[in-house]
Amino acid sequence: MNAPNRRSPSEALTSTAANGDFARALLAGLKATPKSLPCKFFYDEAGSVLFDRICELPEYYPTRTELALLEARASEFARLIGPDAELVEFGAGAVRKVRLLLDALDRPHGYLPIDISGDYLQGVADKLDADYPSLRVRPVVADYTKPFALPAKSPGARRVGFFPGSTIGNFQRADAIAFLRMAADKLAGGGLLIGVDLVKDPAILHAAYNDAAGVTAAFNKNILARANTELGADFDLDGFAHHAFYDPRAQRIEMHLVSLARQRVHLLGQEILFAEGETTHTEDSHKYTLDGFRALASEAGFTPRAAWTDPDRLFSIHWLEVT
Ligand code: AVI
Repeated sequence: MNAPNRRSPSEALTSTAANGDFARALLAGLKATPKSLPCKFFYDEAGSVLFDRICELPEYYPTRTELALLEARASEFARLIGPDAELVEFGAGAVRKVRLLLDALDRPHGYLPIDISGDYLQGVADKLDADYPSLRVRPVVADYTKPFALPAKSPGARRVGFFPGSTIGNFQRADAIAFLRMAADKLAGGGLLIGVDLVKDPAILHAAYNDAAGVTAAFNKNILARANTELGADFDLDGFAHHAFYDPRAQRIEMHLVSLARQRVHLLGQEILFAEGETTHTEDSHKYTLDGFRALASEAGFTPRAAWTDPDRLFSIHWLEVT
């Protein structure tokens, strides 16, 4: 849900541009010291299915906590957002979430979901078109982490961004600021409703990224499976272990793949050597305090107006207005 780079099966087979991106990132990341891979490549068809399963896991509190917050506070969000909103969603993953918001809004004017997968986006747009006949749904096929253009604002509408799921946590701090600056620019005169995971007891975080059923481990290893199917690599998936831990100083979960033996992997005509115990860093998931996130948003050109949390203070939703 709101995963950054969801792709359809047809795109997985035919999109050579995306394959080229993946191939370049894989080679660069695996030749670097220490090894690392960008987490946006988790989300092919299989990765998106695994991520949806993560969202349902008992240990993974963010999705259900954010949904409960959206349900409980929708009328307050709607009051702050005001009438005639044109909702811009960054990553059209969570139709359930946007419905909760649309149902509460006063005369929502339009909905502009942005996603890299055209097929997926069209599916979301068709569903919402059918259920909200007076809503002007205009899908935008784009990678929102790179420069892109939005269609012209409808006259009389107020542009409001929606970025649930704490995907902002997967950005490095400087990238998070750059993303928020871009969003502030596109949402001039309006605001942004954003879900942000909170700093908490490390044991809760550890469980959320090391689930008993092993779904997060499969999600992490899927990047290697994808390299095998898309790029003809020969990763032995059993030769790597999922490793996720909380770093309290950086306030983030780090995910890694640990090589269980000294091994050589072949991809794109090159050989990559992995030492026994060597790790490849695959994802960071930053957690914020309420004040920490407000400071970040202010640095990026927003004025934090309100924030809500669940009773256990696991997750937060912020309403930011463009300064
Ligand atoms: C998409 N993102 C907010 C998830 C997270 O929690 O950082 C991705 C994820 N990685 C492992 N589990 C879930």
